[in-house]
Amino acid sequence: MNTSSTAHEQPGDVPGLRIVELACGAPSVHNTQPWLWRIDGMRIELYADFSRQLEVADPSGRNLVMSCGAALHHARVAAAALGYPAEVEYPTDPADPSHLATLRLTQRPRTPRAVEDLAALGQRSTDRRRFTSWPVPEQRLAQLAASVDVPGVQVVPLVDVTSRFRVELLVNRALDQQAADERYAEEHQRWIDRSQVDGVPSAAVPDLSGHPHSQPSRFGPGETSYEARELVENTDGLLVICTDTDDQRSWLLAGEALSQMWLAATVDGLSVVPLSQVIELPSTRESLRLEVLGGLTRPQIITRIGWQEIGRSELPRTPRRPVEEVLLP
Ligand SMILES: Cc1cc2nc3c(=O)[nH]c(=O)nc-3n(C[C@H](O)[C@H](O)[C@H](O)COP(=O)(O)O)c2cc1C
Repeated sequence: MNTSSTAHEQPGDVPGLRIVELACGAPSVHNTQPWLWRIDGMRIELYADFSRQLEVADPSGRNLVMSCGAALHHARVAAAALGYPAEVEYPTDPADPSHLATLRLTQRPRTPRAVEDLAALGQRSTDRRRFTSWPVPEQRLAQLAASVDVPGVQVVPLVDVTSRFRVELLVNRALDQQAADERYAEEHQRWIDRSQVDGVPSAAVPDLSGHPHSQPSRFGPGETSYEARELVENTDGLLVICTDTDDQRSWLLAGEALSQMWLAATVDGLSVVPLSQVIELPSTRESLRLEVLGGLTRPQIITRIGWQEIGRSELPRTPRRPVEEVLLP
């Protein structure tokens, strides 16, 4: 993504449009980009676009709202890096559940940290290629988990063999159940090579078929065969993003945490791939909560963390909708 300034911006203008443009580089489930924005001077409003919800895989809208949370965090990072750090309000208007957040921009000099975060925003992507066999040290995973400071969110590293083995079984169970559901398969297919502006291009999905160490990925071929069965032997780090409660606000916060963790991993040279199938099915999600996480917290998304090959080729970037399409009058 180009993180330099654009033609939309005039010197001295509040860079609201640029902030939204950068926020739209955020990850979203199936690259649905389910967000809408309203810019009004020093105020930017974020809305969920429920017309882009995955009705089969995401009937509650959890992944949709989490995607908006990732975009909200991206917006904060962009605003701070452009010298306009934002305070965020979370509206509670039951008449309009789609209004998720309002950013109020302030004006302060940018910090070196904000500029580093902005660079990570441009580098981040979902790279589903096989990780190298270098294990991510437990301490590194713990640091990554601890780098997230979103209230009500915990990031839990899964490092012991029993937990990893259980997660592997649950991933398999979820993949098998979803593969057997035609409606799910049909919805999934609709978002692959969908358009020039949204969906997941098949070119962004490496062909791992036949590789003995291919990795669990929603988009990889052969995903119901062996690819999800090797978490234990594999060196993938596993982090689960969890929340205290399980409502729209906590999904939004989980999305902010996902973005924060992903950018920290990017700065560290680590690759992140979300894995949402286990959470999408109520039965596997409940097993994860009770059997792996001790029942006290609500799992929102699993992520795999690892190192990609040095000198790997560039993956094509997933497309984004033109910013004009996501702006409200
Ligand atoms: C809430 C959420 C759930 C996701 N679930 C998966 C998943 O299960 N498998 C996967 O390979 N990618 C998953 N992704 C990654 C998206 O497919 C990816 O962000 C999107 O295609 C845009 O590509 P980019 O991240 O390279 O910009 C998820 C992303 C989000 C925000």
